[in-house]
Amino acid sequence: MNTLDWVAAPAARPLHGDLTVPGDKSISHRAVMLASLANATSRIKGFLEGEDTLATARVFGQMGVCIEAPAAGERIVHGVGLHGLSAPTNDLDCGNSGTAMRLLCGVLAGQAFESTLTGDASLSKRPMRRVTEPLARMGALIETREGGLPPLHVRGGRSLCGIEFAPPVASAQVKSALLLAGLYADGDTTITELHPTRDYTERMLAACGWPIDYSPGTVRVNGGHTLRAIDIDVPADFSSAAFFVVAATLVPGSELRLRKVGMNPRRTGLLHVLRAMGADMAEENAHFAGGEPVSDLVIRHAPLRGIDVPVEHVADMIDEFPALFVAAACAEGTTTIGGAAELRVKESDRIAVMTAGLRMLGARIEETPDGAVIEGGSLRGGRVDSHGDHRCAMAFAVAGAVATSAITITDCANVATSFPGFIELARSCGLLLATA
Ligand code: S3P
Repeated sequence: MNTLDWVAAPAARPLHGDLTVPGDKSISHRAVMLASLANATSRIKGFLEGEDTLATARVFGQMGVCIEAPAAGERIVHGVGLHGLSAPTNDLDCGNSGTAMRLLCGVLAGQAFESTLTGDASLSKRPMRRVTEPLARMGALIETREGGLPPLHVRGGRSLCGIEFAPPVASAQVKSALLLAGLYADGDTTITELHPTRDYTERMLAACGWPIDYSPGTVRVNGGHTLRAIDIDVPADFSSAAFFVVAATLVPGSELRLRKVGMNPRRTGLLHVLRAMGADMAEENAHFAGGEPVSDLVIRHAPLRGIDVPVEHVADMIDEFPALFVAAACAEGTTTIGGAAELRVKESDRIAVMTAGLRMLGARIEETPDGAVIEGGSLRGGRVDSHGDHRCAMAFAVAGAVATSAITITDCANVATSFPGFIELARSCGLLLATA
């Protein structure tokens, strides 16, 4: 196992720069999936060259889809049509990616062949019943390891029927898995959400000409149509931008411009929360690219004060909590986070990992079953474990910029799943980050 460690030293100067973070991970996964199932050739620009999305592309290659990579961030996908995938001869390895495994489960449930989805040590501990149970209600036959854990063996060759379903957790992955299975089902598949989640699958299906009704929190599709090929322009990933948003906010004198960041309202909860904490963030050059709202974000340093994070923003910032934990630990006063129990089943238990790490750095923080109470103050140096979680590793790297001495962060190799080139980009704006 690669247990790459990093050292993050206190910033010696304000952060400055004009940065473009890599393409959106959620959109890149879906672009490869829908383009593979379309009936002609699609072009993707801004594709995330991360391990997670490369795994999705590799899996479709194993099922006979030809995907060309003419340049970094570009893909030409020769779609085989909804029923054109071929049986893979080997297991389909999703690596660290929950999105790949859960969405693929929906696609594979509709195929005539059998397949097995596997993942790395972290993914093999993540709950899959949330997708296998509703898929079984649609008629799918999927075997899991004890406890509903991967590997997942999808029997295939079963006819599916639509369902009406209200997932007990707010999850775009669950919703998307059911919508993808719904493309192969007889009748309507209708999903009603606890809180609206990211709607990229819905938007992309509509762009591919598939009839779909959706509004925040509810969506309906039915089977039996075809997917048109499309050209997809993937915006920069808000979740990757978030680390720089927090870093520039915390390091005195900083000013950063982050280019062409995806501003889908189901992703930008962190902006509302940081603004309520006192952050100075401007959105410039707002426009639409590939059907998604996109803006440049201009972030200037500002002192933060603690708040009670409104629970209605939780789903819209579910991937941003590691960064928010660091912001809260440096704010004046108390920040309370609740309604975020899902953080315990991400790539790591993010509540436990961020609490343990920030405590090592001197923060006063108590975890609760579904969040944490964080007393703001200052951070000191030390050694923290990211537990192989890409977002915790990057959040601790931001903490290093404002700690009183250097932080060693262990187990950082998985940052390549979502943010290849993070260290180089971080250094380019003044963060003092190196491999140990
Ligand atoms: C994702 C949905 C979210 C998010 C993940 C990507 C997606 O997961 O945390 O990083 O692309 O649909 P959940 O659906 O489990 O909340």
